Amino acid sequence: MKFVPVIFLTLISFNFSSAFAEQSIKLKTPPAELENWYKPANKRQVWLHTMFRLRREMQAIEEYAQENNKDALKKWITRLDKDYNKIADMIPEWEKEIKLRLIPELEMFAEKGDSIRVAKTLKMISRTCNDCHKSYQPVVTALYRSPSYDDIKIKNLEGTPHSFKDNMDELSKSVNRILIALDDKNKQAALLSRSNLQKQLDNLGNSCTSCHKEDAYPRERILGKLTIDKLKTLETTISHGRIKESQELMGKLAVTVCARCHNTHRIVSDLRNTLMPAK
Ligand code: HEC
Ligand code: HEC
Ligand code: HEC
Repeated sequence: MKFVPVIFLTLISFNFSSAFAEQSIKLKTPPAELENWYKPANKRQVWLHTMFRLRREMQAIEEYAQENNKDALKKWITRLDKDYNKIADMIPEWEKEIKLRLIPELEMFAEKGDSIRVAKTLKMISRTCNDCHKSYQPVVTALYRSPSYDDIKIKNLEGTPHSFKDNMDELSKSVNRILIALDDKNKQAALLSRSNLQKQLDNLGNSCTSCHKEDAYPRERILGKLTIDKLKTLETTISHGRIKESQELMGKLAVTVCARCHNTHRIVSDLRNTLMPAK
């Protein structure tokens, strides 16, 4: 018997109602060979592109069946046959997830012009798509289509390279040092940490190109002129002892810099790291 590794994600903490008992959802980990059909192991995202074709083929068959266009049906069923079979060719373990016999049946009904049975068979094929997606799709997307930050190096305040995570930890420390100093009316400490934060964000900004390449827009969007202006204004408000204004500016920076970037990058990265099987 084959053991299927299962990841348990527990969703608790619905405190508002004791009627909610602990709930857990099961996410199965996909077969490891799937990695071979994604970058960087493969030159292309082969698995994903097979999926896009399957969806197009299913749609074409559904629409041509309604028109009873036999030639077009034949063409698209041949393509569906090829791609549906590819699922099992690529991942033999997943042959049990699909029903290969449904394709010759589909072909037969299409030849007979039996559009009702064509529709029924398509529905049965669709069910195999949906069942697999329910168990595996989100995990596969998180594992194989989200980038890793592990190999990225960023300069620290002393100019020596450290990891992306270390940069994040230091950003967080600078932000909190500013907030603590403002709270305690310690102007010099607040000014020093503000200046460190600006340098750390500038160093972080130099790493955007490791994924975004020559596209300058992503850096501008989050760390560009508007952010630099806010950091400059912050220097002025701290210098003049305008504490409330400084705190408000910090709140704005946390949203427009940290949270905005985390929403596109960190959420998926955290999910990926949680799901990634230990190597
Ligand atoms: C690239 C856009 C980006 C920006 C801008 C950004 N972060 Fe992050 N942050 C990330 C990513 C990605 C991760 C997850 C890194 C990983 O898992 O390796 C992360 C993780 C973190 C972590 C967790 C680190 C750990 O040890 O797990 C903290 C804390 C953090 N960020 C704080 C901040 C603060 C504070 C700011 C704003 C001053 C900020 N970040 C700005 C992308 C960003
Ligand atoms: C044995 C498992 C399995 C079967 C069967 C399967 N898929 Fe998928 N499919 C996946 C996985 C895993 C993903 C996630 C891929 C990713 O995000 O890179 C996916 C993703 C997709 C996507 C991409 C969704 C998106 O917009 O990101 C489409 C479209 C799709 N499948 C269509 C189909 C169709 C149509 C069928 C049936 C004819 C089918 N799939 C059968 C596993 C399966
Ligand atoms: C490890 C890879 C990686 C790094 C490093 C990275 N990003 Fe991204 N970023 C992505 C991916 C993937 C997307 C989503 C697809 C896309 O838009 O390219 C994205 C999307 C974005 C978006 C939304 C799309 C857009 O163009 O408006 C912004 C903004 C962004 N990144 C900013 C940044 C900034 C700022 C940095 C550096 C501080 C950064 N990214 C570093 C991978 C990365």
